[in-house]
Amino acid sequence: MNNYYITTPIYYVNDSPHIGHAYTTLACDVIARFKRLDGYNVMFLTGTDEHGQKIARSADAKGMNPQQFVDQVSQKFRHLVEVMKFSNDDFIRTSEPRHKKVVQQIWKKLMDNGQIYLSKYAGWYAVRDEAFYSEEELIDGKAPTGAEVQWVEEESYFFRLSEWQEKLLSFYESNPDFIAPNSRRNEVISFVKSGLHDLSISRTTFSWGVPVPGDDKHVIYVWLDALVNYISAVEWPENHLNLWPADLHMVGKDILRFHAVYWPAFLMAADIPLPKRIFAHGWWTNEGQKISKSLGNVIDPLSLVSEFGLDYVRYFLMREMPFGNDGNYSRHSFIERVNAELANNVGNLAQRVLSFVIKNCAGNVEAPKVFSEADRALLVQAYNSIGKIRLEIERQAIHNALGIIIELSTKANEYITLNAPWELNKTDKERMHVVLYTLLEVIRVISILLQPIMPDAAQKLLDQLNVNERRFTAINEGLAPPCFEISAVNIIFPRLQQ
Ligand code: MSP
Repeated sequence: MNNYYITTPIYYVNDSPHIGHAYTTLACDVIARFKRLDGYNVMFLTGTDEHGQKIARSADAKGMNPQQFVDQVSQKFRHLVEVMKFSNDDFIRTSEPRHKKVVQQIWKKLMDNGQIYLSKYAGWYAVRDEAFYSEEELIDGKAPTGAEVQWVEEESYFFRLSEWQEKLLSFYESNPDFIAPNSRRNEVISFVKSGLHDLSISRTTFSWGVPVPGDDKHVIYVWLDALVNYISAVEWPENHLNLWPADLHMVGKDILRFHAVYWPAFLMAADIPLPKRIFAHGWWTNEGQKISKSLGNVIDPLSLVSEFGLDYVRYFLMREMPFGNDGNYSRHSFIERVNAELANNVGNLAQRVLSFVIKNCAGNVEAPKVFSEADRALLVQAYNSIGKIRLEIERQAIHNALGIIIELSTKANEYITLNAPWELNKTDKERMHVVLYTLLEVIRVISILLQPIMPDAAQKLLDQLNVNERRFTAINEGLAPPCFEISAVNIIFPRLQQ
């Protein structure tokens, strides 16, 4: 079986999870579930980023020691995993020994390869971003991200990043799919072309981090520490499950530079193969406004789920904005989209057909011997949809993958109107059975396809259809059931009120 290794960023545990965290992990969850149903051996990794000055300060502000603090906050991220039904195979915490060990190994390897030297850092640092900024990058005395900066002067180890500029550029050139979307790839390339400076990779003014081997007044820079999670979780250098290199690092656009520039440079410098692809998604705004704690408009994924239910939240987040673009959350568009595409479209289709079959066929519809051309056209569209969706998932166009399912459901609803089974019930029962079978078969395919996005709703639909084989290989003409036996119908996609 082929492996597929997908990662989320690991989240800072200075605060409770918000919609942005839920979004990145959800996208990975949908892809991971898709790949499993498509026959891959999936490793889906998420976790928490627990070291550094930002966390140390937050712990301090709460009067707690950092380890106690991270133990507490990390728990909230695990809770989010449960509520959102994320199917991650592992949850890594950077304060775990299995991780710290590999961070130190990588440090030693970089040292042995002549990639690290001791000097002094004098420059700006933004604790919120855990990032160094040059004078030219500042805008009105702040980081380009808007974060406060402070002047730092301290002894520091440096990584010879400047030596990797040309090698990075030729790597991007010969691997055009390494960074996506393309607009982001261009941004990274122009950043690297503008010149890379050596990177400070240790700090001495606080101690909450992984000690530098052989010089423990330094702790390793939190980004070097954090990035290593992607290989420590798969037990590099043993890598005995052969999971590294990862197939996909999913990140938000704000942290692309760390993943597409620093991380590949660290890996090349340590003679480790590079991940296959890095995808940077966009950001959510709330009712048109930037989301921030100071504006008090942070969206809590837990309250969204308790208000609307998990399936609708998962669907909306993945469908509303083209994956890779920025987008806006609004209550109005949430309700509108769910009603239009789920309640009135897929839900209506399933509800109408299943209840009709129970009422008029005692729940049983056998496979017909012949289909008309119109029946065949709809069935072919259903069977072909998996191939099209696969292509969209390969390029992380999750919104399009969902669009293909909705299109199929729309076609099936049109087919009902055109074929009017309620009329056939009076005039041509044999033809009515063919029409109903065609519809049930399309609903079966739709339900199988919906599993990665709405695992609960899809399961209920498949249970109602009494379908047991639920992997994508079952989306095949040859595997259409000889007879559908429907015993009960429940509303799976209720309408929401504005
Ligand atoms: N700890 C680093 C990542 C280290 S990975 C080796 C970090 N953590 S974070 O807690 O700030 O999480 C950031 C993730 O949440 C990013 O992918 C970021 O883009 C995402 N989001 C934060 N706010 C967001 C929105 N408003 N909208 C969408 N995603 C956003 O960075």
